[in-house]
Amino acid sequence: MLAMADDTKFILLFLLLSSSSLCFGSEQDIQCLKSVYQSVIDPNGVLKSSWNFEDGTVGFICRFTGVECWHPDKNMVLSLRLGNLGLQGTFPQGLQDCASMTGLDLSNNKFSGPIPQDISRQVPYLTSLDLSYNSFSGSIPQNISNMTYLNVLILQHNQLSGQIPPQFDLLTRLSTFNVVDNLLSGSIPPSLLRFPAWNFDGNQGLCGAPSDDCPRSRRRWRPVRIKLHRLNDESSIGAAVGFVVGFVVAFYFPHCFVCSERLRAYVVRI
Ligand SMILES: *[C@@H]1O[C@H](CO)[C@@H](O)[C@H](O)[C@H]1NC(C)=O
Ligand SMILES: *[C@@H]1O[C@H](CO)[C@@H](O)[C@H](O)[C@H]1NC(C)=O
Repeated sequence: MLAMADDTKFILLFLLLSSSSLCFGSEQDIQCLKSVYQSVIDPNGVLKSSWNFEDGTVGFICRFTGVECWHPDKNMVLSLRLGNLGLQGTFPQGLQDCASMTGLDLSNNKFSGPIPQDISRQVPYLTSLDLSYNSFSGSIPQNISNMTYLNVLILQHNQLSGQIPPQFDLLTRLSTFNVVDNLLSGSIPPSLLRFPAWNFDGNQGLCGAPSDDCPRSRRRWRPVRIKLHRLNDESSIGAAVGFVVGFVVAFYFPHCFVCSERLRAYVVRI
């Protein structure tokens, strides 16, 4: 009885030791979250109240707000879901130490500055990247095309400019792609045209495939709408001015304005 208990203890200890030494992830992943914590501005103290690095118990980081682990008992980050926490600052640092991370969601915060040009080196295994509703600026890194596992790429509502890298044609696994409300221009890589047009809305300079004549594709209706709008303004001002001038002229010089006798009589009476 006692021997058995000892055996069990030994096996448990062995399992614990082997799992912690086999998964080099642990220390590295903790370091990753420490770097994220230090590089991000957290005005609401959301991370501060939950990310307690003193803890150190088995799988403690898995209970941090926004942290999903591969297994609740292993400090190995599966994904970071930091959406809607009021976070600020530049793109978080140290993510390369979350070496087996597959999901990153920074949406609905106030992050700004560029998306790192070497993002595929930092988080190569992401299947999902959501940076929507922030103020990221600069160009969309061509390096995202090296993130070959990407299924979901949401860049909606930022201030990204320049063109969508033509290399995005290599992202064959993409099932969700959204760049709505940015400052993008140039032609859309042909393979991305499989997504509905509204996924590209709100970018003044975007147009269809390179083989397309840009002004003939989706771009056309915008300038036309703007022109019509201006035309309406101008013509209503023109009509108003014309009416006043016409009225004054007709009032003071009815004889050179009106030809018909019947109408002249009417104008004179006024
Ligand atoms: C782009 O990605 C490749 C491979 O992921 C990497 O070797 C290269 O350094 C990256 N480019 C930049 C500018 O960081
Ligand atoms: C990264 O992607 C580019 C194409 O966008 C490719 O030429 C390059 O070989 C890739 N680098 C790596 C390390 O996969």
